Amino acid sequence: MIFENLEFRILQEGDFNAVWNLILAEYITREPCCVALDLDEEKISTVYLNLAKNSISHQASLGAFDKQTKELIGINLTLLAKKRDSIPDIDLSQLPKEMQQYGMMLTTLSGEENLVAPEKFMGTKNYMQSTMLCSKTNHGNKGLGTELYKRSEEIALKEGCEKRFTFSVSAFTSKICDKMGYESLKDVIYKDYIDPITGDKIFENVPSPHTKCSLMSKNL
Ligand SMILES: CC(C)(COP(=O)(O)OP(=O)(O)OC[C@H]1O[C@@H](n2cnc3c(N)ncnc32)[C@H](O)[C@@H]1OP(=O)(O)O)[C@@H](O)C(=O)NCCC(=O)NCCS
Repeated sequence: MIFENLEFRILQEGDFNAVWNLILAEYITREPCCVALDLDEEKISTVYLNLAKNSISHQASLGAFDKQTKELIGINLTLLAKKRDSIPDIDLSQLPKEMQQYGMMLTTLSGEENLVAPEKFMGTKNYMQSTMLCSKTNHGNKGLGTELYKRSEEIALKEGCEKRFTFSVSAFTSKICDKMGYESLKDVIYKDYIDPITGDKIFENVPSPHTKCSLMSKNL
């Protein structure tokens, strides 16, 4: 796929509103776990607002813009662990119930309480984490997600990162990671996962074809 109509560049503070609007319109409405938990703007703001701002501030998050209209078409938000000291831990107990439930599922994968910095698990402080990957529906399934991941890898290498990782909640992200040589370190199978708060299978109704959340990692 050739992206001659798109401009790829590092996102800046001034892009935040466009990024947030994309997250509201295209991310939380389609990201499989957000859909299953019926997350809305109020709930996701408790975590994603800072996550998006911090990711942009690390100067390693990519946006794909339509060259003519300047519209934001896709994002791969990333954190560089070496710049992460300023980010406080997330206290799950202070979050809305659904965000706690989501966070607990992710900690099941990393085995660490600290969602923000799973360093013990990664074995290094020098990694890039993809926090939010999204392409607009009408540009989806055309290779944009893959292209954003490839370009982020160039940034990670330039930054001297030893590893990349992501919590892949989507079958499409997992396909991208598989193609790019990531290893799946641990999976949560949605239909089997039992939420520790309610005892319910809260991800049973994740939309098809998504079946699992995987901790995907790659040595660079
Ligand atoms: C995940 C997402 C960013 C993928 O973006 P994309 O631009 O479609 O990515 P690509 O075109 O590179 O597709 C990646 C793979 O998924 C497949 N895919 C993407 N959309 C698909 C669809 N609707 N149906 C079937 N397969 C699809 C592609 O065919 C490709 O597979 P391949 O590697 O075998 O060719 C996009 O679906 C999205 O924004 N989803 C909502 C937010 C979300 O869930 N983010 C991921 C969180 S981990």
